Amino acid sequence: MAMNCEILKGNPASFQKIISDIPGDKSISHRAAILGSLCEGTTTISQYLMSEDCVNTLHIFKALGVPIDINTRDQSVQIEGVGLSGLKKPSHSLDVGNSGTGIRLITGVLAAQPFSSEITGDASIQKRPMKRIVAPLTAMGADIKGISASQNTTPPLCILPANKLLGITYDMPIASAQVKSCVLLAALWASGETKLIQPALSRDHTERMLRFFGVEVKESGLTLSIKGGQTLMAPSSSLTIPSDISSAAFLIVLALCAQSGYLTLTGINVNPTRDRFLQVLIKMGGKITISNERNVMSEPVADITVTSSDLQNTHISEEDVPFLIDEIPILSVAALFAKGVFKVTGASELRVKESDRIQSIVDMVSEMGGKVVAYDDGFEIEGPVKINKFRYGSGGDHRMAMSAVIAAVASNTPATVENCDCIATSFPQFFVILQRLTDRINVL
Ligand code: S3P
Repeated sequence: MAMNCEILKGNPASFQKIISDIPGDKSISHRAAILGSLCEGTTTISQYLMSEDCVNTLHIFKALGVPIDINTRDQSVQIEGVGLSGLKKPSHSLDVGNSGTGIRLITGVLAAQPFSSEITGDASIQKRPMKRIVAPLTAMGADIKGISASQNTTPPLCILPANKLLGITYDMPIASAQVKSCVLLAALWASGETKLIQPALSRDHTERMLRFFGVEVKESGLTLSIKGGQTLMAPSSSLTIPSDISSAAFLIVLALCAQSGYLTLTGINVNPTRDRFLQVLIKMGGKITISNERNVMSEPVADITVTSSDLQNTHISEEDVPFLIDEIPILSVAALFAKGVFKVTGASELRVKESDRIQSIVDMVSEMGGKVVAYDDGFEIEGPVKINKFRYGSGGDHRMAMSAVIAAVASNTPATVENCDCIATSFPQFFVILQRLTDRINVL
């Protein structure tokens, strides 16, 4: 039976707490699992995100013959890397579950292997567009069974054994870290150099982590170049995954929109390609301070203190979108508490996420009694909204489910959010952390 969350009316939300256990970053965990599998030597990872998505990636590399020891209790993983020529043909279809990052990055690896494989995922994954990776992989010489480069396609993907891939120059039509990473990974096996021309920057964890494993990735403006055949070397010390800013975002908005108080979140990844939503919230009048900045492996990390604030709505446009794409659902919750019009444009990518997030946001805000208008590439919300008692389905989209729960807690509105199981794909500790802040949540 699906798990629902019931939020009761009680005391207005107010906190004064330090939270030091936001789990590891999802994007960085996937990449650590992949590069740890492909390198020479043993990689020990701590604070690996033990969410369904990231654990699926570990299971996939196990199925590809990589010895991996997963310790869910202390969130550590030990991987005996098999090098670039050590993967084995899997005995079954590979299942990424709900993970777009999983399927797009791992297909980049599979496309270069001398064996065939099939990769798929849940009902949501089976609707997500794959032409964006099939086009460059096919140009490199990969063979995705029955699919031409120009064809729209969705999983399952059946990948035929590759002859040697060729380095290409690829002019990316969209700013996507998943596509960029897919091609960078396939390029490890390609002859010669692969060049990627990005239309705009997107999250750069793959480039950072490849360099951390000793691979040279050149960068000139928006163009990345990588030579095939480079050996990946396991890091000499244990690799710690910083806490996920996209998970922290839910608590950041909760603290901002709560009646009073503050929250301090420690050890959060503040990679400049991921922190744009903090800048947007600061521009909206959010009292946010970033302190204790330091580096953890290849990534910047800091502590973030957020104090309850009066917010003013703003406009998010196309150039912001790659840097806050995953935070738009929770920013739309902040918009409900802010004065004025919150407008998002240039964000048609939201239509092809875990759900059609433009439609999901419209449904959520409408259920709460707010005024919202959808565009093809965005939406507009008029704030502030007096949130009514609501029931929201979430459509099995983890970020939508968490956004609705936060809106109810921050506004002290009774609500039911359905299908909360999906939260385990990215933030399994969400309710445990929230229940330390409020006793108004029942998970049924
Ligand atoms: C991710 C990239 C983003 C993001 C996703 C994680 C990644 O997708 O939405 O949740 O880890 O590379 P796109 O690169 O397709 O925009």
